[in-house]
Amino acid sequence: MSTEPKASALSLEVVEGVAVLTFDLPGESINKFSPAVIEEFTRHIERIEKDAAITGAVLISAKPGIFIAGADIDQFLEFRTAADATAASAFGHAMMTRIEKGRVPVVAAIDGACLGGGLEFSLACAYRIAADTPKTVLQLPETQLGLIPGAGGTQRLPRLVGLQAALDMILTAKNVRAKKALQIGLVDELVHPSILRDIAIQRAKELASGKLARKRERPHGAKELLLDDNPIGRAVVFRQAREMTLKKSKGHYPALLASLDAVAAAYHGSEAEGFAEEARLFGEMAMTPVSKELIFLFYATTSLKKDVGIPGNPTVQKPVDRIAVLGTGFMGAGIAAISVMKEVPVRFKDTEADRVAKGVGAVRDVLKDRFTKRRITRQQYEDQLGLVSGTTTYTGFGRVPLVIEAVFEDLAVKQAVLKETEAKLSPTAIFATNTSTIPIARIAAASARPERVIGMHFFSPVHKMPLLEVIVTPRTAPEVTATVVEFGRRIGKTVIIVNDAPGFFVNRILAPYVNEAGKLLDEGVAVDAIDKAMSAFGFPVGPINLIDEVGLDIAGKSGAIMADAFGGRMQPSDALVKVLGAGRLGRKGKKGFYLYDEDGKREGVDETVYALYAGGAKRREVPKEEIQRRLSLAMVNEAARCLEEGIVRTARDGDIGAVFGIGFPPFRGGPFRHVDAVGVAEVVRQLDALDAVHAGRFTTAAILREMARAGRTFYPKEGKPV
Ligand code: NAI
Repeated sequence: MSTEPKASALSLEVVEGVAVLTFDLPGESINKFSPAVIEEFTRHIERIEKDAAITGAVLISAKPGIFIAGADIDQFLEFRTAADATAASAFGHAMMTRIEKGRVPVVAAIDGACLGGGLEFSLACAYRIAADTPKTVLQLPETQLGLIPGAGGTQRLPRLVGLQAALDMILTAKNVRAKKALQIGLVDELVHPSILRDIAIQRAKELASGKLARKRERPHGAKELLLDDNPIGRAVVFRQAREMTLKKSKGHYPALLASLDAVAAAYHGSEAEGFAEEARLFGEMAMTPVSKELIFLFYATTSLKKDVGIPGNPTVQKPVDRIAVLGTGFMGAGIAAISVMKEVPVRFKDTEADRVAKGVGAVRDVLKDRFTKRRITRQQYEDQLGLVSGTTTYTGFGRVPLVIEAVFEDLAVKQAVLKETEAKLSPTAIFATNTSTIPIARIAAASARPERVIGMHFFSPVHKMPLLEVIVTPRTAPEVTATVVEFGRRIGKTVIIVNDAPGFFVNRILAPYVNEAGKLLDEGVAVDAIDKAMSAFGFPVGPINLIDEVGLDIAGKSGAIMADAFGGRMQPSDALVKVLGAGRLGRKGKKGFYLYDEDGKREGVDETVYALYAGGAKRREVPKEEIQRRLSLAMVNEAARCLEEGIVRTARDGDIGAVFGIGFPPFRGGPFRHVDAVGVAEVVRQLDALDAVHAGRFTTAAILREMARAGRTFYPKEGKPV
């Protein structure tokens, strides 16, 4: 038995002729591959190969819940040319091939997250065993960073699980859990975590003695492989995948097509040529602006997770072991559901018993859906549901450290509810309101403890939308902010901290964008021309479609609030006023700018809407680029004002808010990243040109003008973006 020096990432122990390599990256909570780690691996493998007494090997992790999380992203920032990235990929290939083709069979003993390069490493192993726990997830997330799997994934995965399953994993970056991994042949065996190491050693011995064969490929003839097994079938699969990818990505994510090309290369030419093509395409993708922006978003979300929301990042947050939610309606139910999902008990209050029952039913529906999709076990489903206790009284409120209020959007109601609740709470409890439009300070004005009042602005549907805006007033205590930020994160949200002002941040920047769409309608542009232009820009849906979904009444109300607060530049369009006046409500009323069938499915534009407007059905053509410029710059300019006014603390928070709250195209990184990419001076020039035509709506934010003058950018041009 021998052990390596402590500072290294890997330690080696030999057990009955099997080398057990334990991966435990020093000073990190996760294991990841860097050039240094790959070198260390290679040295170990060389040594193992040379030692005739060693017949098998096992790789296992010492980190709880993590096998290997993938490559260290920092190294990607150092690539200057595509050739650099290609060389890094080839370096990884060399190690993996050594493992795959070596004398000694290596077993991957996977417990916890096995992602990216970690999964690609396992693919090169002779056998894969996974611990059967909810923490075991296997995933190739590279396309989410605008890259392709570059450590052999595009070549080895299709051989192991078949073309269709491989493309599904690579193109969607989906999580594959333990049972599914076994089902598709991604792992060879599932075991209880307590025996993972022993069984892995046992299997290594069996592989060495020939009792067990190395698993590189799926057995031929499996039913789902019929299409994959021959060139004609494969051509069909590739064609369908390409069409689907183009449709979904609208061509904005080149790594998806590059992944398809790399996988295709696994079926043409030699093995070496396939790997070379993967490395080449990895290099090409690493240089794309899309990858740069997606990697920025990765860093931005990671750095946000370490940000407690108050200067100096002190540890002042208090534990939140239970909460109360006021209002069991649509939002309240969503908030309650995501809380119990994270094992936080919820007192769930409304005014009437039947409303409470309805709210609890809505929580049940969300949990049931997770159970049906096998994200949780029946036991978990029952346990989580058991954490919601409905009530029409305030019993139990004395013990909750945090109350989230989601009652009707009405200042008087919210203030009355706050007063009534406060009387029942402990003096240290926090009162958070989920208002969408009312300034928090106005609600807090009714409080005896305004320093303990804060905004938690969730987005709908709560269990799907990733963002949470935490809104602080000048009086909110720092400890209250830190506690709420931490709680928001605990229930799975990406949290940005915003200062109290009309529209907060997300709705504030959305308002001029949507309004500009209305102004285009006023000018006679067609509904679908506007929506198509913005979805081509990269938004998930166009602005008119969006307000039809949200409800035209709600859009109208919030538009009026914004116009009140900000005047001229947010004056509502005639188009929206007229359509509302005609009683159209959008999807919920099955009548808006679009037509809806009986089941609420959206059909084409409702041409009758044009009868409300001057010019009628005869619509004016405006180039797509002009629509995109006007709408995107209206949003970008407002975002810049928010930064200037301190509504958001940093460009990073603003970009995250826009991408995760509105769906600002992720491949553009967010409004501030977009300004940097286009060039601040160019954005100012375009805004000035627009303002000359549409006076008042595009007055350039002072911060942009100042930055253009000084030649500054929002983000550093080199190195880590945040
Ligand atoms: P909702 O109408 O579905 O639910 C409101 C619930 O509050 C009802 O069940 C009502 O009975 C209850 N309620 C009223 N007075 C109460 C009281 N005194 N005590 C306890 N419960 C009381 O409304 P929704 O959509 O859930 O909105 C709730 C809040 O969330 C509003 O402030 C809204 O502006 C905000 N919001 C809504 C979003 C949305 O997309 N619907 C998005 C973000 C925030």
